[in-house]
Amino acid sequence: MGDQAKLSAGGADYDYPVLKGSVGPDVVDIRKLYGQTGMFTFDPGFTSTASCESALTYIDGDEGVLLHRGYPIGQLAENSSFMEVSYLLLNGELPNKEELEKFEFTISRHTMLHEQLATFYRGFRRDAHPMAIMCGVVGALSAFYHDSTDISDPEHRKISSHRLIAKMPTIAAMAYKYSIGQPFLYPDNNLSYTGNFLRMTFGVPAEEYEVIPAVEKAMDRIFILHADHEQNASTSTVRLAGSSGANPFACIAAGIACLWGPAHGGANEAALNMLKEIGTPDKIPHYIERAKDKNDPFRLMGFGHRVYKNYDPRATVMQSTVREVFEALKVDDPLFETALRLEEIALNDPYFVEKKLFPNVDFYSGIILSAIGFPTTMFTVLFALARTVGWVAQWNEMISDPGQKIGRPRQLYTGPTQRDYVPLSQR
Ligand code: CMC
Repeated sequence: MGDQAKLSAGGADYDYPVLKGSVGPDVVDIRKLYGQTGMFTFDPGFTSTASCESALTYIDGDEGVLLHRGYPIGQLAENSSFMEVSYLLLNGELPNKEELEKFEFTISRHTMLHEQLATFYRGFRRDAHPMAIMCGVVGALSAFYHDSTDISDPEHRKISSHRLIAKMPTIAAMAYKYSIGQPFLYPDNNLSYTGNFLRMTFGVPAEEYEVIPAVEKAMDRIFILHADHEQNASTSTVRLAGSSGANPFACIAAGIACLWGPAHGGANEAALNMLKEIGTPDKIPHYIERAKDKNDPFRLMGFGHRVYKNYDPRATVMQSTVREVFEALKVDDPLFETALRLEEIALNDPYFVEKKLFPNVDFYSGIILSAIGFPTTMFTVLFALARTVGWVAQWNEMISDPGQKIGRPRQLYTGPTQRDYVPLSQR
């Protein structure tokens, strides 16, 4: 018998198996707890609860480690492409040359949207947030693929996954084009995944669009850095939605809705807005004081992380990418100086040191995206585009598990106990 964890409750002792992952903390298997003791565990926010078994991504928050299928994020960001990382997440291994070419070809053959979807966009107000449009359009894809969404069929799951990964850049670019009143551009499959996205976003039909290699590389790297991140809020949302057997397009739309929040994917938009509000380095101390004030809701956006308590390895890559993009585009945004200074001041402030608050992936991404030409409202859309591969890989992993159950948390009920209905005339 392996390790056991003991629980004493109500005068009795219970043993629960301790499960071992390939790396990382052991996990107490409490699945039998309710049946044996009549008690639930209480862990809102899942700070101590593993909601599933997964072989995709590993994070060691104390050491600042992020691995996809065992490969460190720094190595992937440096040497691979987003398509390679997507293949890795979906299939478990890095592709060889032939496998990669075939995968890229397959994805490129799914980039177009059903023409009817262009009409769908026109139902939105021009000033709608592109995340609102994205939620709606991705959810609407469910209505277009009845023929291939038998989720118990692995081939159907694969096609849906490819469709989602392939169509997300088209959907995102069209959301942007719609907001600025420019015509939609059809995908160009001669370009890379990322090059095609840049062209659909910034190109116009009247002119040839030239993809700038340094920008394409930086964008691709940003996609890699956002591809998957273990059981974060939006991924857990996708899994929970998918656990009921809902179709994948609806599940990813649910993930997009969750990602939108400022504590999650919306933080990159919030971080840049914050830097703009701070403006110049001399104002930093004032904002640091506000962030520390318990009575002030202000937080340093792009700082802190539920899991990383040392540093976010994605932030390190992001910081060096800022310089590369600035060089390629010959821009010099004073906000970068403000960001560097803010990081320095915060990292030397006892409040941030004690609480282990470090810049996260979103702290620098906004500066890069803004230099490339994206408005802040598009930042979270780009996050959603990149995270789609993680979402579908996690969804696939869950559905493939024969022991998969519907996600159904329990609760600690604190409302009124049973009471009798009082007729309206007597209230
Ligand atoms: N600025 C100031 N204080 C902070 C911050 C911050 N950014 N983040 C956490 N704290 C304080 C917080 O007030 C609390 O203090 P106390 O213990 O005195 O009450 C303590 O640090 C712990 O905070 P928490 O909210 O309990 O920590 P959490 O693990 O629940 O929250 C977080 C993690 C990311 C939601 C939070 O750090 C935050 O709101 N950060 C700003 C938003 C942000 O940048 N989000 C992007 C995360 S990375 C991208 C992604 O994965 O989506």
